[in-house]
Amino acid sequence: MRSHLLNDLTAEHYRRSVTEGVERVAAKLAATDRPFTGITVDALAPRIEGIDLDRPLHDTSAALDELEELYLRDAIYFHHPRYLAHLNCPVVIPAVLGEAVLSAVNSSLDTWDQSAGGTLIERRLIDWTTGRLGLGPAADGVFTSGGTQSNLQALLLAREEAKTDDLGRLRIFTSEVSHFSVKKSAKLLGLGPDAVVSVPVGPDRRMRTVALARELDRCVQDGLVPMAVVATAGSTDFGSIDPLPEIAELSARSGVWMHVDAAYGCGLLASLKHRDRLAGIERADSVTVDYHKSFFQPVSSSAVLVGDAAALRHATYHAEYLNPRRMVQERIPNQVDKSLQTTRRFDALKLWLTLRTMGADGIGQLFDEVCELAQEGWKLLAVDPRFDVVVRPELSTLVFRYIPTAVTDPAEIDRANLYARKALFASGDAVVAGTKVGGRHYLKFTLLNPETTADDISAVLHLIAGHAEQYLGESLDRAC
Ligand SMILES: Cc1ncc(COP(=O)(O)O)c(C=O)c1O
Repeated sequence: MRSHLLNDLTAEHYRRSVTEGVERVAAKLAATDRPFTGITVDALAPRIEGIDLDRPLHDTSAALDELEELYLRDAIYFHHPRYLAHLNCPVVIPAVLGEAVLSAVNSSLDTWDQSAGGTLIERRLIDWTTGRLGLGPAADGVFTSGGTQSNLQALLLAREEAKTDDLGRLRIFTSEVSHFSVKKSAKLLGLGPDAVVSVPVGPDRRMRTVALARELDRCVQDGLVPMAVVATAGSTDFGSIDPLPEIAELSARSGVWMHVDAAYGCGLLASLKHRDRLAGIERADSVTVDYHKSFFQPVSSSAVLVGDAAALRHATYHAEYLNPRRMVQERIPNQVDKSLQTTRRFDALKLWLTLRTMGADGIGQLFDEVCELAQEGWKLLAVDPRFDVVVRPELSTLVFRYIPTAVTDPAEIDRANLYARKALFASGDAVVAGTKVGGRHYLKFTLLNPETTADDISAVLHLIAGHAEQYLGESLDRAC
């Protein structure tokens, strides 16, 4: 069994095993002609349940053969140009290489004595990111598992900085289209059920700052305490960017913590054309960035950044076995002092190799390309009478709905759109997402793949219309 331990004696076995795995994935990627096979849960589950985990195969090739059947064959492939659903990007090769290196060396970023150079590399990347954000010389931050955790940590700091310990009186202000992790964080932080105040958005899906100002005033008049304003720089559905300068102004005037959830919009930090869309972010107290959304990094890769490093002390706990207090005086950099996690992956390595190989401009160019593609997609939708498109994108999503001329019942149109999404998924020809707007069912393209073309968008729209029409035709037959 020791032959399976990765060490000096098994370096050759490691090389062979990993190479074989890489070759299988490479062959699979090269041969993938659809983003999905359309397999159903009922068809796949028995195969996975049928595996006897207490009877190993004792052979890497056999385990990989089995994995092809159980996973690789039917996985959802984000690199395919017709995967247009959620905020999953295709990944860049330097980052995938980083993933292979980091799991083999297996540094844990909690303490210096478990990572050494890894700690310093992460710190450089945090400084690089705060520099791009313009958060100033006192800024700091830490890598996290994702946007949800980054938002949670930011709001933990905001709660600790708030002007009352009475958790029931604290309020968080965020737009009605912000990510649900804001509400989840409020619950985890012990705030009351009404803690999150939903601020309306305009037709452009950006927070209405007049409404925010009104809600902030009302909060104080009601004897409640504003804890944080969470602005979104790239809403999940619409990619809309809240008016950050105005929100910064209002937050400063009310003495409220300003958090910017730039999980999606952070790609603009590298953009060669649209960095200005994040103007005002430099005034935030904290920012969430998800490199695994718009920096083309594999999951997971995210960070929470703060304007004032001292705020991170709210996440600091000392343990004699790990990071005793004296190490602070000894200036030993233990990242666990800033993190909600203890053992933690060296995700930063992926971004490091990406920047060292491609450069930030390379990432920015790819992100600019998908933003441009979204503009082309919007133009196609805007002139196509079969579809209603909600808003011109600021980033790279398109929210739209098939609208047949012959049908006026909105519930029937809902069903046609839901059917089209499901039928498309089952065919595996393309994968699209769905959401609700004004209580009605819409479809969504999240465009994060520079290999997707306007022709792909046209073709997928055609498929959607075909499925929806088929549903409506059959529905008419049923009614007759
Ligand atoms: C705006 C926004 N914030 C936060 C998140 C949560 O990020 P994660 O899925 O990395 O936890 C998402 C996810 O889609 C998001 O779109």
